Amino acid sequence: MRITGVLEVTLSKPLPEEAKSKVVEVIQYLNNVYLKRGARDPVEGAHISSFELKEDKIVFVLETGSRVRIDEASLRIRNVLAQELGKNFRIGIRGLRLIEPKIVLEGSISISLSLPFVKNIYSDGTKTVVELSELSESDLKKPIFLRLLRLVEEKERRYRWGGKGEHWVLYKKSAEKTVKFFDDPNKILEDIGWIKRVSIGQWIYTPPLTHILNALKRLFLDEVVKPLGFDEATFPKMYPLEVGLKTGHLKGVINSMVFASLPKTYNIAEFEPLIDYMYVMDTAPPEEVQKYLEPPSYFLCFAQCEPFYWFFENEILDDAVLPIKWYDMSGPSFRWEAGGLHGIERLIEFHRIEIVWLGKPEHVIDIRNKLMERYEYFLDKVLDLEWRFAWVTPWFYEQAGVVEEKLELDINTPGTIDIEVWVPYKGGRDDKKAWLEVGNISIHGTKFTEPFRIKHNRGEILWTGCSGFGSERWLVSLLAQKGFNPDNWPKKFLEYVKKEPFPRSVLTVTYPKTKDGKEFLKNIIKMFEGLGNA
Ligand code: SER
Ligand code: ZN
Repeated sequence: MRITGVLEVTLSKPLPEEAKSKVVEVIQYLNNVYLKRGARDPVEGAHISSFELKEDKIVFVLETGSRVRIDEASLRIRNVLAQELGKNFRIGIRGLRLIEPKIVLEGSISISLSLPFVKNIYSDGTKTVVELSELSESDLKKPIFLRLLRLVEEKERRYRWGGKGEHWVLYKKSAEKTVKFFDDPNKILEDIGWIKRVSIGQWIYTPPLTHILNALKRLFLDEVVKPLGFDEATFPKMYPLEVGLKTGHLKGVINSMVFASLPKTYNIAEFEPLIDYMYVMDTAPPEEVQKYLEPPSYFLCFAQCEPFYWFFENEILDDAVLPIKWYDMSGPSFRWEAGGLHGIERLIEFHRIEIVWLGKPEHVIDIRNKLMERYEYFLDKVLDLEWRFAWVTPWFYEQAGVVEEKLELDINTPGTIDIEVWVPYKGGRDDKKAWLEVGNISIHGTKFTEPFRIKHNRGEILWTGCSGFGSERWLVSLLAQKGFNPDNWPKKFLEYVKKEPFPRSVLTVTYPKTKDGKEFLKNIIKMFEGLGNA
């Protein structure tokens, strides 16, 4: 990113002849030292390419990088001039004008023309030029202007990231395991009627499926979560928009969030026209219903860790309480997916055990490492699955100037480890598509403690971490490698399945839907005989 512009500094009186050499001296100091301060690479600092003295004005032609941007450079020039001309010639600074500021960005980037300060944008495919309106000294200091620059910078960074959501690097993988099952468990679950699709990406799980899902969740809690000392909390599942603004989800993934509205009034009498309409027409057209609702002021649980940061917002924590380790499994998450929905492995409403922690950086890293060890044990020894971990860096963690190679090596910087399990029905183990992401473990640095102003009493830095166990996906991947015959299931899992009598399956005149499905269900019921009444 390059920023150019012409800075006009108006002085309190015309510059006397003897001051001119002082100005030259000041410019040398600015160019060699002060305008480069804070930029490791001088090109990312600021530079005065030329200047002109005009009675009571000094005009500078500026070019800057992203480290010392033109706003900062202008203010630095102003301050040094004020000091030097004030001290030596009793000349003050009347004002600043930044004329024709222009940002040149790598790539083809679009920015809304309705934003303040944005005058014009054009692109030749490889570069984008953003022309800003003329700026005064107070404009340069405005938070709106600073946020505009940050937005533009972020868009460029995203562009450089290559349009990908994240960078994927294999971190660790299990030995190859013998797999004898190659069918799609989603299809079988639907055929035998253990799940029924009721809406896009939403299913009803019958008692048998609920039973094995619960067994897997309990096993995970006992083997991974509880031994590490996490305590259960209950989080709400609907959050005000401000929360999503602070977590960044509204700015990053608004296209996959689900929103909620409150009714305009509690007075049922005011709904009468709508109620009458539904009575007579026997339909509930969304456009009609919408007229009785407020605009959306909530979004439904998306990441499931939002309430953790929300809870600690503005709180000051001391060493005695740190680190804090909680988990929540009190309800579903919602993610609207435009396509690619599949069985219970890609859903709009799904369930997850969300593990969250907060502490000093060393706490947060240590907890992440221990969690990773337990996950590995759980995958490898308890469930005996073929798995792999990948270090993924979402684009928003990329620091300007930090290259990919560095991120690969240092897993103690903010970022995410994805947990993937091979699902043989989708292809061989060398096929990228045949690996299902069942969960992740992240450390966020100060990504959330900063916007939520979560503070330490002695000013130490606080970080957070979170990890999501996608319940349905873990079950799908277990069934995908082990199949439906409980004889082939991992011993410990079977033990948990047997803790309670196995519930009855639904077998009616019309359900499961197909003849094959009914036959298959009868086989399953036989296989499960030892476990209860299937
Ligand atoms: N909250 C994290 C996520 O949404 C982990 O579940 O990915
Ligand atoms: Zn999270």
